[in-house]
Amino acid sequence: MARDPLDRRGGSTPVPAGDWPAQFAARASRAGDELTAILSLAAARDVITFSGGFPAPETFPVEAVQDLLGELLAADAATALQYSPTEGLPQARAAVSQLLLETQGSVVDPGDVLVTSGGIEGLQLLARTFLEPGDRVLVEAPTYLGAIMAFAGLQAEVQGVPMDADGIRGDALATALAGPHPPKLVYLIPDHQNPTGLSLSAQRRQEVVELCRRHAELLVEDVAYRELSFDGTAAPSLWSLGPDVVVQLGTFSKILTPGLRLGWAVGPGPVVRAMTAAKQNSDQCAGALGQLLMARYVTGGHLAGMLTRARALYRRRATAMVGALARHMPPTVRWTSPTGGFFLWLTAAEGVDTRALTGPAARLGVAYVPGAPFYPDGRGSNELRLAYSRADEAAIDEGIRRLATLLQTPGGDPLPRPAGTTAPIPDPPPSEGAP
Ligand SMILES: Cc1ncc(COP(=O)(O)O)c(C=O)c1O
Repeated sequence: MARDPLDRRGGSTPVPAGDWPAQFAARASRAGDELTAILSLAAARDVITFSGGFPAPETFPVEAVQDLLGELLAADAATALQYSPTEGLPQARAAVSQLLLETQGSVVDPGDVLVTSGGIEGLQLLARTFLEPGDRVLVEAPTYLGAIMAFAGLQAEVQGVPMDADGIRGDALATALAGPHPPKLVYLIPDHQNPTGLSLSAQRRQEVVELCRRHAELLVEDVAYRELSFDGTAAPSLWSLGPDVVVQLGTFSKILTPGLRLGWAVGPGPVVRAMTAAKQNSDQCAGALGQLLMARYVTGGHLAGMLTRARALYRRRATAMVGALARHMPPTVRWTSPTGGFFLWLTAAEGVDTRALTGPAARLGVAYVPGAPFYPDGRGSNELRLAYSRADEAAIDEGIRRLATLLQTPGGDPLPRPAGTTAPIPDPPPSEGAP
């Protein structure tokens, strides 16, 4: 007799009732599978992980959160524990407006702020609002994986525009905008970019905004790492330079805690209103408890102190990583020197396959993300991303020393592989997502 497909007694796998993957929609791309496996290395025990863009737990304001939670529940538990308006609670929208005035010098009415469930939700809402299958989206090459996945997941054609040390190249962007099939969106991360750590120069910011204005092109500015420059300075935001053509997506994940899953969107009214309508169709509202907590945290003046400590910590870790790279890497390897954020970008000798080296690296107890997935067209096979945000300085030195042994020779794998095995790690732990 056939077993009930949902019978999980005895812990065995249920009998498959159908070929579910054959029925998946075309947009449910399987492209993320390999990446999920790579990122899962970050959760492995005894691995020095430079893979995920995770904030340092040392920066989490545990005591302040405890105090503020107690206060806000005593003051208004009925709001904190209830559904909230799709656009966000008034206190949270006012707090974002205050933050943007303080950090970017731009005034936005709280009524024009959309509170999102993290930065990635802002991207999803925007993508769903604008993109039909086949629409073009321009991005920096390389760029944030979550963005490529959000756009490609809607079957958009994602096109990378080359960067140099000053960020996206203005001439290359102008060429990409000039073609007969204009893109729907231009997506940029101007500050301490994920994955390279590079920032768009102040002069280029003007140029990029003017180009987009001339082409009536919507510019999406992702400011995930903007407040994390090591010296506390920042160039003008694109949104402050062009509120008529820029939608800014922000997140509290890197400056407060990803545990809240909170972010914001500001920009042209019709765009933000359409994103709000799209949010009604997804999670309906961000969690009220987190919104009230964030509002008290920001308006209570706690953020400034936390940012000062976080910047100092990330500066120490970045300095440690750059120093370790200089000590341990062969002369064929180059890397960026970040002035903020979580990441640096490493380029190995031509012919080194960083994707193939993830397994040997795991056996050496070190994890990183290979470069190719950060390019929409899969270039970057000899490149990789290193996050210094979560490892302490001793681990950084040791992890880079181990990685250097792999990058000495093209394709070099110094560890003997047990006969007959190709799997990089025996028992992958659960995925940690793709920050
Ligand atoms: C550039 C960039 N944008 C957005 C996000 C997503 O932020 P959140 O965790 O708030 O969804 C990340 C996370 O790594 C990021 O690096």
